[in-house]
Amino acid sequence: MDFKLQVTDSKSRARAGKITTDHGEIETPIFMPVGTVGSVKGVHFNDLKDDIEAQIILGNTYHLYLRPGLDIIEKAGGLHKFNGWDRPVLTDSGGYQVFSLSGNRKLKEEGAVFRSHIDGSKHLFTPENVVDIQRVIGADIIMAFDECAPGDADHDYAKNSMELTHRWLKRGLTQFDNTNPKYGHNQTFFPIVQGAGYRDLRKQSAEYIASFGREGNAIGGLSVGEPAEVMYEMTEVVTGILPEDKPRYLMGVGTPINILESIALGVDMFDCVMPTRNGRNGMLFTSRGVMNMKNEKWKDDFSPLDPEGTSFVDHHYTKAYVRHLYVAKEMLAAQIGSLHNLAFYLWLVKEARKHIIEGDFAVWKDQMVRQMSVRL
Ligand code: GUN
Repeated sequence: MDFKLQVTDSKSRARAGKITTDHGEIETPIFMPVGTVGSVKGVHFNDLKDDIEAQIILGNTYHLYLRPGLDIIEKAGGLHKFNGWDRPVLTDSGGYQVFSLSGNRKLKEEGAVFRSHIDGSKHLFTPENVVDIQRVIGADIIMAFDECAPGDADHDYAKNSMELTHRWLKRGLTQFDNTNPKYGHNQTFFPIVQGAGYRDLRKQSAEYIASFGREGNAIGGLSVGEPAEVMYEMTEVVTGILPEDKPRYLMGVGTPINILESIALGVDMFDCVMPTRNGRNGMLFTSRGVMNMKNEKWKDDFSPLDPEGTSFVDHHYTKAYVRHLYVAKEMLAAQIGSLHNLAFYLWLVKEARKHIIEGDFAVWKDQMVRQMSVRL
């Protein structure tokens, strides 16, 4: 993997760059649609590629390991072959999902013992086997195994958790550096900064993670219930320490406003379930504000779904028709809403990149943040 920093904004820390992988290029800042089980829920890959031009998608080690399982993925020749997505893929390590999805889990120095949310079966994730699993999945970018401390963790808990994540990182790196890709394309390994909502821990963690000089670095443990101001403060501390010439990935963030504010703080990569999850529920993001498509007010509004939207669904369907689909609980409603929201997120980061390059990012960002706060 290679990263070229192309432009840094003079009035903020925002950057435009380009990541090159064996599955193609990614222009940053970028949003990565979430494809948890190897599918971006309700969205066909031809729409993702040709209509809204997604450049990279995310997969989850936890889900893919449990179902369909590694034997099937390996037999298929890796996830790219299995699902037919031929652009870059990043897999999360399972660190977050073990804690958020598996009700029954136990942390040990060795790793995390957990029960499957599907059939209750018992499993162990270690920093080493999570690397092996991501080798089998074949993602272009693979993530370290970490503990994401709860948003309200006290300092002692957060410190112990960060130190465990650091010890796990060393073991994961050793495993990564002593194993090879399985399918002929290169893979790279991103470490993850933790430290909850504590400046001193975030500083310590960012310095530790930076010391490994990997090809990219991630910031975890944010957007887990803490106020947005704390998330921005922690992000600012960390991006002030992580190397300038490597991409920075803020995990699991966030709303369109969170994304713009974090781009201004020097973040390059994002993922979040919000566009697809909210799309399924009828909450649509637009450059003029947020629309609840189930609202009665749209019942006889025959204007296009989003006249400024970049997906075909924005121009092909009317608000009244899409509202009708949501009220009737038609599958197509969720599909239209998901594609619309992903199109909006991808448009947003592409516009951000354009304004960083043109030199007016800060002014544009403040104006967008005001517009997007409106409820339509
Ligand atoms: N996704 C969102 N937050 C996190 C985190 O802290 N760690 C991991 N591994 N994934 C995440």
